[in-house]
This record gives sequence, structure tokens and C-alpha cells, in this order.
Amino acid sequence: MTVEIKPNVFWIGVNDRTTDLFEGMWPIADGVSYNSYLIKDKKPVLIDLAKSTHGDAFIEQIEEIMPLSDLNKGYLVLNHLEPDHTGILKSIRRNLPDIQIVATRKALTMTKAFYGIDEGFLEVDDGSTLDTGDRTLSFYKTPFVHWPETMMTFDPTSKILFACDGFGGYGALRGAIFDDEIADLDFYRRESLRYYANIVAKFSNSVLKAINKLIKANVPIEVIAPSHGIIWRKNPSEIIQLYQKWAGYAQGPREKAVTLVYGSMYGNTEKMMNNVAQGISSIGVPVEIFDAGRVHVSYILSALWKNEGVIIGAPTYETEMFPPVAHVLDIARRKRIIYRTAALFGSYAWSGGTKREWTKFVEQLKWRVIEEFEFHGGPTKEDLQKGLEFGKKFGEVIKSK
Ligand code: FEO
Repeated sequence: MTVEIKPNVFWIGVNDRTTDLFEGMWPIADGVSYNSYLIKDKKPVLIDLAKSTHGDAFIEQIEEIMPLSDLNKGYLVLNHLEPDHTGILKSIRRNLPDIQIVATRKALTMTKAFYGIDEGFLEVDDGSTLDTGDRTLSFYKTPFVHWPETMMTFDPTSKILFACDGFGGYGALRGAIFDDEIADLDFYRRESLRYYANIVAKFSNSVLKAINKLIKANVPIEVIAPSHGIIWRKNPSEIIQLYQKWAGYAQGPREKAVTLVYGSMYGNTEKMMNNVAQGISSIGVPVEIFDAGRVHVSYILSALWKNEGVIIGAPTYETEMFPPVAHVLDIARRKRIIYRTAALFGSYAWSGGTKREWTKFVEQLKWRVIEEFEFHGGPTKEDLQKGLEFGKKFGEVIKSK
């Protein structure tokens, strides 16, 4: 299935419902799309490709619009070199030896490194334009949205911004590709936030810079066409504003809510978790609870990214922090989820050890610690009462932020 977005501009993307883990680590049970676009013009233009596993489907999509060979005299715009968009580059080049690859200088080093291709290249820079016959495309470098070579392409004729990873999200397309055709838009909003937290959040400063660049240049965007997820044509400003809001969480302000990540071997830390959660909820502060041993960190990151408060419930395991919880903190560190308001609780059996590891993490994460308490074995009545009071106190701190 291909879709004409505007006259002579087609979505020719493919859905991936068979890859279990995006980037080899993020679960995508609801799939992901690799959106590519084809512009019919005197010199036809292909914008971004697909993962290597989807080469045949991709070629079939092109052939719905035009014979593949017609592209040989045209252009291939590569906004970004990550192999989810370029995996089939070698085979495209084999079939279309004369197609000109349009990309930034940094991208050239990557086409060579990933695919051994270093010729037939048209380098573009910020503000470069490309005349394709009836239209002139323009290019905006947007480094680190998501890699350093990344750019966005704008077509002033259709007023479509081809944003690649920018404004993208997880979730295969379910037969509808536009925001105004989708009944369950919340699914894509949720999956866009998870994608943002997993893939883009670390580069939030670059996201804000890119958005400001587009605003400053007065780019008259009518349609946002990312390379993952849905196309925003009714309300393109919605996804721009969402990305602005999510990028803003890096420095704050964030949501006045708490992410409670815990692990428990025999239910003792879990018992305390319930009381802490009760305390937080009792004063009307939202709390999102994750069992780190059972919920993939991909989902936990969405909450950690947007919420101001984070409480960790971790027992000591063989003199160190319970490993599933330590894994979440390690990923938070790698993703630079810094400057949160935090606390720790947990059970220990003999000498403890969680707190030692926690102290190292919070130093790196620059979290402001409100409270830390551990208890020996199962929590007593008094311990549980303390947990309840602590939950209330922590909730009050979050409320007042
Ligand atoms: Fe969708 Fe950074 O690749």
C-alpha cells in the first residue's frame, strides 16, 4: 500500500512487525514503521530507506508508483544514516548505480563505514537547495536528532517536512497513516513518548535547537512526515509541541508525579512499596509503579523522563543492589535522566549494600535525595507506618516543586 500525501508526493513506507527489539534492545511488540517517501518529478526523489530485513517490501512499494529503474536518474536523500533507514542502501545502489545520494558531509563518512559507498554523493549543508524539476527542496542540518550527521528535508511545494527520527514514534501503522484518520491517537502519543525517552531524550538540547532553527527560518510547515510513526497533517503543531515539552523535561519543569521503581525477592520490599505508594497517593500525587524484575526498562524510561519524583525500592542482593533495579539506574545514568528529586528504601538480610551502590548512582545522576531508609528482613508495623509517612512527605515535596 502506498499513499499520496500531496500531489506527486507519496508515502512508500514499510511496517516492521517481526523485529522484537528496536536497536537490539527496546521491545516493540506493536511494531515500528520505516517511513520513506517518493517525490515524482523530472528528477524523482527517494527520501530515506528501510531496514535490511524489509528490502523486498520496499522495492514493491516503489514499483507501485514507478519502475525502479526510473529512479536511476534521480536523487536519494539520506536524512540520517542509522541502519533502520539505510540497511538496504547497498542493494539500492546495486540496482540504481547512478542515483545521487544527497546527505551531509558527516553522512558520507558513515556511508563508507557502513556500506563501503563513497561516490555518487551530493553533499548538502544548512540552507542548501536542490532543484528537482518542478520543485526545489531545502535542507536543514539538525545534528544529534538523532546522530551527528542528521538533517531534515523541506519541500516548499507540498510544505512537507521530512523529519526522519525527529517527531517520530514507535508503533506500526494500522492501515491509517495520518493523524486525522486515527481513532486511537493516544496509542501513538504514548509510543512516541516511549520512543523519545528510549532514543532521543539524551539529545534533548539538540531537539530544542532543531525546533528553534525551523521556527527562526519561518519554515511554513503544513505536514510533519517523520520516518517512524504517523504523519501529522491535521495538526502538525501537536507533535512539535509534544517534542518541545518532552525536550524541556531535561532541565525541567517536569510533571508533578512520582515514578516508583522497585524489586522484591520475597515480598518484603514490595510490602513497603505499597505503603509508600499509599502515602503518595493519599495527598493526590500521581504515582507510576514498576517492578524492575518484570517490566522492561524501555517502559520505565518514559515515566522516569517525564516525572519529577523518583523513588527506588531495592533490597540488598549478595551485598549489592538488587540487580534488576541497578540495571534501571544504570540505564537512567546512560540516558542522562538527571536532576530528579529522589529517595530510596529497601530490605536487607545481613550486612546491607544497596545504599553504597545507590550513593554512587545518585552522585552521577545529580539527584536530590530526600530520604533513604533500609530495614532488616521484613518491615515491622513501625517500619510500615514510617513508609506511609515518608510517602506523604515525598509527595508534598513533589507537589511544591
Ligand atoms: Fe530511526 Fe536514529 O534511526
